[in-house]
Amino acid sequence: MDMLIRLENVHTFYDGEKNSTLKGITLSIGAGEMVCVMGPNGAGKTTLLETINGILPSTGRVEVFGRDARRHGPEIRKDIGYMLQAKTFPEDTPYLVRDVVLMGRFGKIGMLRRPGRNDWNAARDAARFMEVDHLWDRPIGKLSGGQTQRVLLARLLAKNPRILLLDEPYSNLDCRAVEDVSRKICTLHTRNKLTTVMVIHDTAHVPDICDRILLLKDGRLIGDAHPDVMLPSRTFRDAFAEA
Ligand SMILES: Nc1ncnc2c1ncn2[C@@H]1O[C@H](COP(=O)(O)OP(=O)(O)O)[C@@H](O)[C@H]1O
Ligand SMILES: [Mg+2]
Repeated sequence: MDMLIRLENVHTFYDGEKNSTLKGITLSIGAGEMVCVMGPNGAGKTTLLETINGILPSTGRVEVFGRDARRHGPEIRKDIGYMLQAKTFPEDTPYLVRDVVLMGRFGKIGMLRRPGRNDWNAARDAARFMEVDHLWDRPIGKLSGGQTQRVLLARLLAKNPRILLLDEPYSNLDCRAVEDVSRKICTLHTRNKLTTVMVIHDTAHVPDICDRILLLKDGRLIGDAHPDVMLPSRTFRDAFAEA
């Protein structure tokens, strides 16, 4: 299998902190894999996504698409769709849905050019796929949680990435919205042959097509297995028990 993401003995540091937050992480993720990252609060799940995205200082090797993620960050990030944890927009945010989806194209458009017909078409297609095209002219701050997540996914899709990094895409969603957003993510992953790394906190949200669960605790990778093996395991249960 072609390994798109490779970490070797990675320690990630936050500014001003003496100890590393990620502690000696080694893992590889192959092209086409759907990987879920789980672990208690503060385990380092978000830090892991940001390390893969090449935006935090770390030691060890971090390779994405076979290139050093810290040296080639900007080029690598053109092919990564990263969705931040719990993104909500204040009601008076001065952007319409179409502006937000079009932002997915900015890396492709470049700083000094204006969006062209291609960019608008890609944004429109992405909105249609995520079934938010009827919200096109609505202010982003006036949407429900599920609608907002679908718009943010449309923005990622408009970018046409090869890797999706999704940080708790199901938080703040009711059950129906979870099912709906989950189906969209899985269809997108499969249809576009993406490699997806998704942080989730609820075992009920592990999608059927998930290949592996990475289990983090205290900055360490303490488990890496198929959900059928991981979820019933003692390691998994103990990871969430109070210390
Ligand atoms: N900007 C930061 N500066 C210093 N420490 C941070 C920063 N962000 C997160 N941390 C710490 O790093 C650890 C891992 O955080 P995080 O990756 O956000 O965990 P998770 O996403 O698993 O809840 C936590 O102890 C957190 O307090
Ligand atoms: Mg987090």
